Amino acid sequence: MNHAESSPLQNIILIGFMGSGKSTIGKELHARIGYPLIDTDTEIELRQGKSISTIFEELGEEAFRNMESDLIEELAHQSNKPCIISTGGGTVIRPKNRELLRQLGFVVWLHAPTDIVLQRTAKSTDRPLLQMPNKTKVINDLLKNRRPWYDETSHLKVDTSGLEAHEICIGILESARYFFSQQ
Ligand code: S3P
Repeated sequence: MNHAESSPLQNIILIGFMGSGKSTIGKELHARIGYPLIDTDTEIELRQGKSISTIFEELGEEAFRNMESDLIEELAHQSNKPCIISTGGGTVIRPKNRELLRQLGFVVWLHAPTDIVLQRTAKSTDRPLLQMPNKTKVINDLLKNRRPWYDETSHLKVDTSGLEAHEICIGILESARYFFSQQ
């Protein structure tokens, strides 16, 4: 066994746009390595007792972004056993979040082209930013803004459009082991 195979994994953080596959890959990674899966959207919904849409509607996007930042800050200061952390697509908007995410562990940017994002989010009613008439333009504009932030925050970029979840997970785990072996 080489060094990369034997080195223990630490936190694996999934970032990327809505519909890029973070939830699917998070669950598959959890099934493979058994690390607790923290989905920041789900955690916020549980704590607030409200859906993301209701939070946006009643309190506004800024309030949601504050909850997101508080949670990332909290995770960064916990010394728990390693986790898989799946983040909301807009977590990278704030510079402090980007810095903390990189400190948290191995950051994987899951990416998919606009047509795939459109397909995967078509039936979703709980993504307030996509409840707009011209979804293609909304997605393209948001992606254009965010691409540099996903890029600067991540250690690895994976296109999720042409591969099965298990194939993506094998690649992520190999890369993560190598990354942690170099720390
Ligand atoms: C958002 C993405 C959503 C959720 C919220 C805002 C965004 O998470 O956090 O609707 O700004 O891209 P997913 O990426 O899991 O859909």
